[in-house]
Parts: sequence; structure tokens; C-alpha cells
Amino acid sequence: MTTTIAVFVGSLRKDSINRRLARSMEALAPEGTEFVYANMDLPLYNQDLEEDFPDEVTRDKELVERADGVLFVTPENNRSYTAVIKNAIDWCSRPWGKNSFAGKPAAIAGATPGALGTTQAQQALRNVLLFLDIKVMGQPEMYFDTRTGFDPDGNLAPGSRDFVRGFTKAMVDHMIS
Ligand code: FNR
Repeated sequence: MTTTIAVFVGSLRKDSINRRLARSMEALAPEGTEFVYANMDLPLYNQDLEEDFPDEVTRDKELVERADGVLFVTPENNRSYTAVIKNAIDWCSRPWGKNSFAGKPAAIAGATPGALGTTQAQQALRNVLLFLDIKVMGQPEMYFDTRTGFDPDGNLAPGSRDFVRGFTKAMVDHMIS
């Protein structure tokens, strides 16, 4: 049986370290796990646009609804998660009464080149996810410091593999339990 995970990466940047972290998790995920990436390049949420719901948002909503769980991988901007993440979450929680996330299990991870490693971004995001009735994994946590977590070529450092593999396994277990 395949476990499908809808992945929301909170950066549009071509060389995003958070997308790289998501890809590393994908590579080390248990056999039978499929990562499907949400389109994060959505119009800025505006309730007027709900009259003619954007196709790309509908596709993201369907992706979430079909998935067994959702993974949010967020950078930290000014001590919170990014506007890119919030925009996608707001869209997929709409229209009223059709919150695509309701009841879904989820996990949060984040990467930054710093010692505090997205702690505040993740905590702020957790608050929003709980409101949306998302079942967020509490432990383990993934605060990924890219200065030590990636090697100079930008690949996962050998010393990080067990940590990333262990987190990903726990996440899949949480989603299928
Ligand atoms: C940052 N960055 C950052 N890092 C951090 O650990 N805490 C923070 O509060 C912030 N604040 C912040 C604000 C803004 C406006 C920018 C542009 C950046 C650094 C950030 O983690 C870094 O740029 C990452 O590389 C962003 O992730 P992606 O885009 O590489 O995935």
C-alpha cells in the first residue's frame, strides 16, 4: 500500500534549502511512500477570487484531500513561518465549510542556516494547523541547521541521514496510524 504525502514547501526560491530538505526526506522515506508537491506559487488570497476559484488552488485542495497526510517544510522569516505557507493554507481552507485539511495528520519541518533553526516558525505554524483541525505530530521535531546538516555541495551530510530517516519514518507512522 502506498502512503501519499502532500508536501507544502514555504519557499518559492529556486535553490531553496527547505525544498532540498523535503527532497532529502523523500529520498530516505520508507518504501511505499510517495511525496506529491503542492503548487505554492498561488495568487495572493483575496476573497473576491473565490467567485471564480483559481484552478491551481483547486488542484492543491484535491492533492491534500487525496493524501494520507501533509508535510509542511517552512523557512523562518522574521521569527515566523513564511507568507508563502500562510497563503497556501488560507486558500486550501476555503471556501467556508470546505477546509481540505480537516482531520488530516501532518508534520512540520524546517531548515535555516542558524542555530535556532526555525523553532519560532514551527511553533507559530502549529497554532494555525491546530485551529484547522489538523492532527500535528508532536515528536520528534525537525529543526534543521543547514550549516552542519548539508555538506559543502548541498547534499545531506552523512551525519544527518539517520536523523532525517528517523523523523520521516515517525511521520509516516503518524499518518497511517
Ligand atoms: C530570513 N532568514 C531567517 N532565518 C532564521 O533562522 N530566522 C529568521 O527570523 C529569519 N528571517 C528572515 C527574514 C527574511 C525576510 C529572509 C529573506 C530570510 C534566513 C532564511 O532562513 C534563509 O534565507 C533561508 O535560506 C530561507 O529558506 P529557503 O528559501 O532557502 O528555503
